[in-house]
Amino acid sequence: MVPALRDLAQGATLKTEGRLHLETHEAAADMTIDSLKSAPVLVIGAGIMGAGIAQVAAQAGHAVKLFDARDGAAAQAKGKLADSLAGLVAKGKLDAAAVDATLARITPVATLREAADARLVVEAIVEQLATKRALFAELESLLSDDAVIATNTSSISVTALANGMAHPARLVGMHFFNPVPLMKLVEVVSGLHTDAGLADAIFELSKTWGKVPVHARSTPGFIVNRIARPYYAEALALLGERAIEPAALDACLRGAGFRMGPCELMDLIGHDTNFAVTNSVYEANFFDKRYVPSLVQREMVDGGLFGRKTGRGFFTYVAGKPMVSADAAVGEAPADASLGNIVLHGRGPCAELLAARLTAAGLGFDRAAQSGWTGLTLGGAAAGAALRLTDGRSASQVAAAGPQREVAVFDLPIAWLGVAQRAAATVPGVALAFSVAAQARADLSEIAAGALRALGFAPQPVADTPGLVVARSVAMLINEAADAVQQGVCTPDGADAAMKLGVNYPDGPFEWLARWDASAAIDVIEALDACYRGERYRVSPWLRQAAWRAAGV
Ligand code: NAI
Repeated sequence: MVPALRDLAQGATLKTEGRLHLETHEAAADMTIDSLKSAPVLVIGAGIMGAGIAQVAAQAGHAVKLFDARDGAAAQAKGKLADSLAGLVAKGKLDAAAVDATLARITPVATLREAADARLVVEAIVEQLATKRALFAELESLLSDDAVIATNTSSISVTALANGMAHPARLVGMHFFNPVPLMKLVEVVSGLHTDAGLADAIFELSKTWGKVPVHARSTPGFIVNRIARPYYAEALALLGERAIEPAALDACLRGAGFRMGPCELMDLIGHDTNFAVTNSVYEANFFDKRYVPSLVQREMVDGGLFGRKTGRGFFTYVAGKPMVSADAAVGEAPADASLGNIVLHGRGPCAELLAARLTAAGLGFDRAAQSGWTGLTLGGAAAGAALRLTDGRSASQVAAAGPQREVAVFDLPIAWLGVAQRAAATVPGVALAFSVAAQARADLSEIAAGALRALGFAPQPVADTPGLVVARSVAMLINEAADAVQQGVCTPDGADAAMKLGVNYPDGPFEWLARWDASAAIDVIEALDACYRGERYRVSPWLRQAAWRAAGV
């Protein structure tokens, strides 16, 4: 029996309800982390992930054995690692003695039997349920009963993997991110069989490996691969309806603080891989339309346009480098300050951002006494035109609802909300999408662009589509994260940490939510639902509760 389980069973007879869970839990975790900290480790699979896992375990002081089914692969992986670490020593980034010590701790082995003394196994072999199950059966016949088995699976259920094991409680997910030595996140994944104390011990152990662990319940995509789906899906949906070009789309999301736009990111990941992950999450959720893959991406995969690695995806690459600079879409243009008498509408972080930007630009304005929307009414030549923060509806829908026909809507400037020091400080070239009502005068697009330029943004015209680009993407990311929390996959803090560390998001979904507004996010999703009708745009019950809680204050 796994030590943690043994402790739980003994502790449970001594303690009373209520305190029982916590005390037994902690005692079990302590015991196990102590034994794991110095445990001999066996890494199985010496590919991209296994080599990196062997490196971080050895750097943390473990004696590591490395095994691969392919003859010579483990020794080759160690050789490659030695070369790359030597390169870092030459650049002065690592200490030669420390590197020697790390390498001395890694022993390639030709058979699993040679590693039967391992107390912790990390499996990083091919992503196939049957192959992994067969490996676990073999391991259980070789290892001691209290050895822990961790799987680096990125998409297979940990519960399913444990089914059939003699000691299923000893299997836990330890989901690293690529490249392992650089990416801080580890999702510690518990299936139905996984011993809770063991998951806590692996959580603690990951910290000693220099990682930031986050607990996750074993559900399709775990945390990161699930919550990230809308980042790709909304982009692909916009491209599918020809609302915007890939370069402009990327510019808008970089303007929201993302390091890479979705198109350049999918090109980097590889459309084959990204499409496979989307399909696996879709299938694993019984073909829930929320995760439906995109025809746009399907065509690229079928055509072999995988992105950077094949030289062509959304963009063209020569020797792995994009032919056109990522910033080419964002043109610089002078501020146009002829906006007449401006009236500022609304309250809240976006209205305050507009106020700060108007003041910084030296533009006077009056505040509307009361309005149900956020944005500006322009004067002068624009004659009362409304430039409104998107509430999810297209500009044409807003205009049709009256009374104003001259309506433009602009995207959610999420990176700038609720951060006082960022509000007035304009950064040149930050793209912000906007669209104009079909009913509006012909030059409203020019006028709206001029106003956005005056506010310090690089205006990016897009088709008049609900939720524009950032509002739509961020609302759906928040919604997916809210559902994950609702389903007990992770905590809000866990989701934020996972998305920032696993995919480099500038902020976590719940951090965005805190700076924006749950009811505004719901409005955007409902507007999308009203337009597209289907099951993709379903508001998470968690998000609705959050909106009601906020309204009740
Ligand atoms: P890889 O193809 O680079 O390496 C897999 C290695 O496992 C190969 O060297 C292969 O010879 C070996 N192998 C296959 N079957 C084996 C067996 N039965 N026993 C021993 N060795 C065996 O694959 P990669 O990318 O390192 O992925 C490994 C695991 O990590 C998969 O479960 C994958 O889903 C997961 N993962 C991959 C990530 C990535 O970005 N590549 C990220 C996170 C998890």
